[in-house]
Amino acid sequence: MGLSGRTDGCVIFVMLMMIGLIGMCVNGENDGDEVGAPMVKTEQEALYSAIQGFVGKWWNGSDLYPDPCGWTPIQGVSCDLFDGLWYVTDIMIGQIHDNSLPCAQNLEFSPHLYKLQHLKSLSVFNCIISPTQGPISIRPVNWDAFSSTIESLEFRANPGLTGPIPASFGNLKKLQSLVLIDNGLSGSLPVSIGRLTRLQRLVLSGNLFTGKIPESYGDLSELLIMDMSRNSLSGNLPLTFGGLTSLLKFDLSKNQIEGEIPSEISNLKNLTLLDLSNNNISGGLTFASQEMSSLEELILSNNPISCDLMSFNWLNVHSLMVLELSNMGLTGEIPVSISGLKNLRYLGLNDNKLSGNLSPKLAELRNLTALYVNGNNLTGALEFPREFYMKMGRRFGARNNSNLCFPMAKLSARVRPFGVNVCRK
Ligand SMILES: *[C@@H]1O[C@H](CO)[C@@H](O)[C@H](O)[C@H]1NC(C)=O
Ligand SMILES: *[C@@H]1O[C@H](CO)[C@@H](O)[C@H](O)[C@H]1NC(C)=O
Ligand SMILES: *[C@@H]1O[C@H](CO)[C@@H](O)[C@H](O)[C@H]1NC(C)=O
Ligand SMILES: *[C@@H]1O[C@H](CO)[C@@H](O)[C@H](O)[C@H]1NC(C)=O
Ligand SMILES: *[C@@H]1O[C@H](CO)[C@@H](O)[C@H](O)[C@H]1NC(C)=O
Ligand SMILES: *[C@@H]1O[C@H](CO)[C@@H](O)[C@H](O)[C@H]1NC(C)=O
Repeated sequence: MGLSGRTDGCVIFVMLMMIGLIGMCVNGENDGDEVGAPMVKTEQEALYSAIQGFVGKWWNGSDLYPDPCGWTPIQGVSCDLFDGLWYVTDIMIGQIHDNSLPCAQNLEFSPHLYKLQHLKSLSVFNCIISPTQGPISIRPVNWDAFSSTIESLEFRANPGLTGPIPASFGNLKKLQSLVLIDNGLSGSLPVSIGRLTRLQRLVLSGNLFTGKIPESYGDLSELLIMDMSRNSLSGNLPLTFGGLTSLLKFDLSKNQIEGEIPSEISNLKNLTLLDLSNNNISGGLTFASQEMSSLEELILSNNPISCDLMSFNWLNVHSLMVLELSNMGLTGEIPVSISGLKNLRYLGLNDNKLSGNLSPKLAELRNLTALYVNGNNLTGALEFPREFYMKMGRRFGARNNSNLCFPMAKLSARVRPFGVNVCRK
């Protein structure tokens, strides 16, 4: 009796366990704090509503992902543990992977998004695309909720995202990376961004921004990358930019910047890239008054800078690998000191008014793989050794220099510089 009673008890216990398990599977979301990754209910619901706002009403998070920080992870969502409970830390929305959810036509930034208490990173990629969605702009309200959490904010490839950058972004004091690239954003740049002193990356390229660059951006002393290329920014380069002492990459190409390149730029000792091409910069080349020994790429083409290359101290930029100075109204001769830039790989001097001879010393630059001097007023015979033409091929361009000639009539046409006449005896 006793034995069989014990057996019955065991069977009943097992059955109860099975019912319990089935119950858990069916009502997983209700038992969220017993199985899986425990979350505060408001946090979990905020997550569902926020994502539903982006992908559409059909998406039922609690059905599809009852345990979003545990055994039913949502693609693009990461979580972390704070005092024994799970919170959302990263959200990536949009078509990042083949199987990511597309954004809805009538998407909205749900007010629930801003209830996520520990959100560190928000990224919206290739999401707001079709004009029928829009116009959708970044509403200025609510962002203050993220002021002590968010470190990275990225909107990339959203042509349907229009309007200005909200000034309230200036309150996101933990922000280290603000990337707003290839959207339809416009208006002037908010002064308040200059308050984000932890910022390391400020990328605003490929939008429709206008107006001047705020002087306050010179306070971003921890900035490593500043890229505002491909906008319609105007005015002068702020003198305050000498304060961007950590800067590695500075790209303002394809805007309408005027005035001179301030000599304060040479305070930027760690700068490796300076690209100011395709602007309206004038006033000569005087900025490298001090050594800029980190500078590897200097790209200033398509600006009416109109000066000669003799007054520039090329020894101060001795690490240059890329030097692109085409279409700048340059006059005078090409200084022999340029052949002292031992790391040079690319030298572009097309479409200027450079005169005199092309120094054969340039052939001593072992790493040089491209040299373009098309469309100048260079004269005399080219005096490079035969091996130079063999090495360079079409990456040596010297056509449209009416008084330049080539002395090796017998060299095969394949390596002969294109468009340069053979010298007359
Ligand atoms: C999701 O589904 C559950 C149960 O299937 C339902 O109770 C809930 O209302 C749905 N939520 C939404 C937002 O549709
Ligand atoms: C410049 O780079 C060096 C080496 O990476 C680093 O030690 C230094 O702190 C940097 N300077 C500034 C002002 O960030
Ligand atoms: C370029 O700047 C000059 C002044 O330096 C100005 O007169 C001219 O209109 C500007 N050009 C464009 C296209 O903005
Ligand atoms: C040329 O390039 C090589 C390999 O990229 C590099 O190691 C070297 O420092 C460069 N400079 C010179 C002068 O050879
Ligand atoms: C080119 O140089 C020659 C002298 O070498 C000079 O006579 C001529 O005016 C120059 N042409 C231009 C367009 O600068
Ligand atoms: C440059 O040369 C090419 C052919 O070599 C010619 O078609 C072109 O018109 C020339 N351009 C100028 C500005 O002289």
